Amino acid sequence: MIKRLFIKTYGCQMNVYDSARIAELLAPLGYAETGQAEGADLVLLNTCHIREKAAEKIYSELGALRRLKAAREHRGDRMLIAVAGCVAQAEGEEILARAPFVDLVFGPQTYHRLPDMLARAATRPVLDVEFPAAAKFDHLPARRSAARATAFLTVQEGCDKFCTFCVVPYTRGAEYSRPAAAIIAEARRLAEEGAREITLLGQNVNAYHGTAPLNGADDGDEWRLGDLIRALAKIPDLHRLRYTTSHPRDVDETLVAAHRDVPQLMPFLHLPVQSGSDRILAAMNRRHTAAHYRATVARLRNARPDIALSSDFIVGYPGESDDDFNATLDLVRDVGFAQAFSFKYSPRPGTPAATAPEQVPEPVKAERLARLQELLRAQQRAFNAASVGRVLPVLFDKPGRHRGQIVGRSPYLQSVHAAAEAARIGDIVPVMITAAEPNSLAGAIVARDRAA
Ligand code: 5AD
Ligand code: SF4
Repeated sequence: MIKRLFIKTYGCQMNVYDSARIAELLAPLGYAETGQAEGADLVLLNTCHIREKAAEKIYSELGALRRLKAAREHRGDRMLIAVAGCVAQAEGEEILARAPFVDLVFGPQTYHRLPDMLARAATRPVLDVEFPAAAKFDHLPARRSAARATAFLTVQEGCDKFCTFCVVPYTRGAEYSRPAAAIIAEARRLAEEGAREITLLGQNVNAYHGTAPLNGADDGDEWRLGDLIRALAKIPDLHRLRYTTSHPRDVDETLVAAHRDVPQLMPFLHLPVQSGSDRILAAMNRRHTAAHYRATVARLRNARPDIALSSDFIVGYPGESDDDFNATLDLVRDVGFAQAFSFKYSPRPGTPAATAPEQVPEPVKAERLARLQELLRAQQRAFNAASVGRVLPVLFDKPGRHRGQIVGRSPYLQSVHAAAEAARIGDIVPVMITAAEPNSLAGAIVARDRAA
């Protein structure tokens, strides 16, 4: 009998990847995915703990699910509720205490045991947040279902950097790199299933240091991310590669050279800097300075002049002065970002910065965030406006919001809309960019014989 599975995914792309793997893991047990919680036999929240109020959001979501579950039980049906991901890892016991109607709680490193957990959950709630395991990849199904032309592939997980504001080292565990052979096999399967672009994922993806495949002259060597990218670029029909999220400290020469030499590697890089003040960067334990970041950007631009940059920023880190904040604005002006994410510092329980003295008052954080975002938005608008009149290769990967429209990405990760038949989804097509919105571009497909 078919059982219905509803997964709600919060947070980062790693969670999106995990949710896809969970669905693949449950398919042999008869679970088919559905788009809504109503009527589902298993509802799974794949949670994120990175910033504020994540846990509170989950509890309110669980409140709604409790009513749904009660209604189903009233009709004699069973509905299982599972909480997975980083909130589950951080607050496992508390979730079961506060929401006793939850059937399963498991962390990011244990979901390969889900079939067994489901069997046990038939009699009583299951908690599995053993930590860290880093072994799950050996127990996930080999089959990958690439539902779209673009896919995610986790190559590295966890983080050993311990930035003082960040929960990741506590929820995802120690840094772990998958062996290159397993990654290449997974990428081949994704390409065979129709993926034309793969984004390599890792919390600290460019710290990648997996074992090389055991059939080359470099047997037993360690591969860096640049080596892995070169190998993946040889897979037929895989036209585009991306990776995220990087750390400025780990941009090594093999990676810079890959940006220079590998045409499949897209000219876009998300490289979080967090702050432009050396004092704050040191307090954050970032292990790089603003000058190091500027120099890294220069190396990358030297290798790939059109590379577009994205970043993450935190304003109002404990002790951040006006001068520190101005140094961040200076760095933004110097580098120039195609897009960026910026956040007010939010204390995460259990991290060193949460208990630091000199917490910055909320109104100061809000005012700084508004100023930073104004500058970043202006840079993004200018970057998008500069695309108008150019022909860009766009990989279309889904239907647009309006009929007759499809949506894809430019090499620089800009979202591009065009009027075209859905049959073009999965193709990389030259598109003349005709208009720029703050967050997307509009364009017209150029006939192939006119394409540059
Ligand atoms: N407060 C605010 N922003 C944070 N981030 C991570 N932890 C915090 C925090 N405690 C931001 C960082 C990181 C991004 C994923 O989230 O900028 O790069
Ligand atoms: Fe968190 Fe990234 Fe720092 Fe690791 S490198 S601790 S994931 S912000």
